[in-house]
Amino acid sequence: MYKLSGSLSIPGDKSISHRALIFASMSIGKSEISNLLEADDIKATISILGKLGIKIFKKNNKWIVIGNGTNGFLQPTVALNGQNSGTTVRTLLGAVSSNPISCKFIGDKSLSKRSMSRVTIYLNMLGAKTKLTKNDFLPLTIKGSSSLIPQEIVIDKPSAQIKTSLIFAGLNIGGEFKIKEKVQTRDHTERLLKYLNISHVRNKFKDGSNQITLSGPYEVKSKNISIVGDPSSAAFFIVGALIVPGSKITLKKVSLNPTRIAYIKVLKKMGARISIKKSEIISGELCGSIVASYSKLCGIKINKSLSPLLIDEYPIISIAASCAKGKTVMQGLDELRHKESDRINSIVTNLRSVGVKVKSINDDIHIYGSTESSKKKCKIKSFGDHRIACSFLILKTINNNISIDNEKCVSISYPKFKKDLNKLLKKS
Ligand code: S3P
Repeated sequence: MYKLSGSLSIPGDKSISHRALIFASMSIGKSEISNLLEADDIKATISILGKLGIKIFKKNNKWIVIGNGTNGFLQPTVALNGQNSGTTVRTLLGAVSSNPISCKFIGDKSLSKRSMSRVTIYLNMLGAKTKLTKNDFLPLTIKGSSSLIPQEIVIDKPSAQIKTSLIFAGLNIGGEFKIKEKVQTRDHTERLLKYLNISHVRNKFKDGSNQITLSGPYEVKSKNISIVGDPSSAAFFIVGALIVPGSKITLKKVSLNPTRIAYIKVLKKMGARISIKKSEIISGELCGSIVASYSKLCGIKINKSLSPLLIDEYPIISIAASCAKGKTVMQGLDELRHKESDRINSIVTNLRSVGVKVKSINDDIHIYGSTESSKKKCKIKSFGDHRIACSFLILKTINNNISIDNEKCVSISYPKFKKDLNKLLKKS
């Protein structure tokens, strides 16, 4: 028998890593980035920025970016390949849109099925010209301009990628440009605006909406950025500790950004023994350590209103729910259909093959958990989705009869996931 025990430093946050690279590229001069996540999605962003004329290299464990300013992207001579990374393509679309260049974006099979018009409709409103496959997908071309027209945009969907794309565009738009999201999504871009001294106004309204007013074009001065650990990666080990008897782990230097750790509240409501110790603010982001111990979990109802704050954690929350006593209902998951895989389908299909009773009703998932973990032999389909593979690798710690296809897709967000999991796994 094994348990999870000991402590671990979690690799850098994926969302902040993309943003740090893009902000640094749009700054004037040299920025050093520490603890950048070295995963496939981030490599896609680095590679595209290189094709846009930005020098990026690693030196003494830090990534060095030589920025060219907010109007400094060069005309690429090849197609820009976002690989599997939605954040890469969607946020870079905004960044290039306010530069007078034409770019063709492509991606892998999964990314080519994901909507891009959710970003380009707004960039078109500003004056960028785009041409998409079947009006929504990659490959797409975008023709940018350094004279986009600022306006007041209200984003319909809860999406940090759309918001970030517009903020990057706004760095080279002259005049007052207002970007409003109806509900607060992860706010790393806003925090970096502040950390990088980019003057802007941020308004949070009583109805829960969040508005950023930019007054560009900006000359951004380069500044070193240090990246805190990714709370979405930490979530896998936390749930591992909760479901494997006898476990207790400490995860260090993890982001405690409130827009990212709603899953901790949810797990606590399920009965999880988790404690948090805040330690410091690193490049505008609060971080600290998280201690999680084996717990007797019970099913709960998770309201739709929480979904923008839990969006990447539903797969691993589903694993916790499958080991909890009673029923868990996760409501309002429509956005999960637009991730690296259709995650409603990926969760339901795989839990079913493990022997868990599970239903999807419209955009809700109902999971009937059991504290008697199933030892059913089955093959999990990762659908090439890193968060599905990581989640079921955690369930495998209590059911060794599970095997997972294409496990190596974990490298999209966490290349050393299995190595780190093995570090925590100790004989009990
Ligand atoms: C991300 C935003 C989220 C999230 C994704 C990363 C980001 O996507 O699912 O993994 O870095 O902005 P949406 O903005 O589409 O919700």
